[in-house]
Amino acid sequence: MTELKNDLFLRACLSEDVERTPVWMMRQAGRYLAEYRATRAKAGGFLNLCRSPELCSEVALQPVDILAADAAILFSDILVVPEAMGMTLTFGAGEGPKFSDPITCRADVEKLPVLDDPTKELGYVMNAVRTIRRDLGGRVPLIGFAGSPWTLATYMVEGGGSKTFSKVKAMMYNEPETMHLLLEKLADSVAAYLNGQIAHGAQAIQIFDTWGGILNTSSYKEFSLAYMQRIVQQLTRENDGRRVPVILYSKGGMGWLEATADTGCDVIGLDWTIDIDEAKARVGDRVALQGNMDPSMLYANPQRIRAEVKDILAKFGHGNGHVFNLGHGITPDVSPEHAIEFFKAVREESVIYHR
Ligand code: CP3
Repeated sequence: MTELKNDLFLRACLSEDVERTPVWMMRQAGRYLAEYRATRAKAGGFLNLCRSPELCSEVALQPVDILAADAAILFSDILVVPEAMGMTLTFGAGEGPKFSDPITCRADVEKLPVLDDPTKELGYVMNAVRTIRRDLGGRVPLIGFAGSPWTLATYMVEGGGSKTFSKVKAMMYNEPETMHLLLEKLADSVAAYLNGQIAHGAQAIQIFDTWGGILNTSSYKEFSLAYMQRIVQQLTRENDGRRVPVILYSKGGMGWLEATADTGCDVIGLDWTIDIDEAKARVGDRVALQGNMDPSMLYANPQRIRAEVKDILAKFGHGNGHVFNLGHGITPDVSPEHAIEFFKAVREESVIYHR
């Protein structure tokens, strides 16, 4: 494999020495970029884009070219896993995802297969991983990803997004065994899927637990964290002579950082509701931290954005183990100029902390 020209991100994930703090951003390939919208139009919609390895590579590289991001992320969606398990997924224009055949009962869960061969139904994602690695030519590392079992289950049971999560929570409280069976099948499918991404060239892994934060503490540990841990335990942790860092990101999960660090992950992704110095004090040097600027800071002017970057860098202070990111994904109505200024500010302002 080609040698990595910029491995700052991998080193920071493993709390090794770096010359400056690396930066990437969740949802960095997305609608805020005109270049992304043009490629999506060429593909004929979002799911078609996900199914074309060449076009996935085109959009995954856009933020590397435009923002000088220190990592690329696989272009796909978390919901391609339930789709590969047989569910019918659609994305209406300007709408969120929909499953027309949601999971409603034990029999629905029993019918779901466990995906153990990622080169079958999800083979197009493996091709995308290989194509992106080829096109990156070693410029920056490639992050693979999947949704957490709990977060996938919310979409599968609700049939789409939700405000109340009434169906998935009712199933969890009324029929915990059914929920556990669903989460087990998802965890084992996701583990095989992520190991496939690693085998095809993903150099780090992020698990997105977007909806872990809607749970109470005991439910979070039992229904979300335990299944992320089950995945972490199954993952290939070294490939091509390098450790493959694993990042766990639970939005709204800042109350459970210590338990998250105990899963064996390398990095915890922070949302913006905690100060990074407090997070660092709580997890010590057990894991690295990723984050954690409020995504809506990108609506502010470049001077304000830079001040916020400086504040977060100062809070983290000297020492290794910081990957700069937003606390959640960039929103579609942000000006690309502001995103460019954000990345530039991190590159420039972080140097003093690594002398
Ligand atoms: O740049 C990247 O981060 C890589 C690609 C990526 C997408 N989705 C592409 C996408 C990643 C990592 C995801 C993860 C994802 N998908 C999550 C977890 C992260 C998070 O944001 O909380 C979730 C919950 C989903 C499910 C999903 N996909 C929703 C709810 C939606 C619609 C609303 C929204 O947030 O955009 C999507 C669509 C989606 N996934 C788009 C993109 C670029 C927009 C679709 C379009 O172009 O029309």
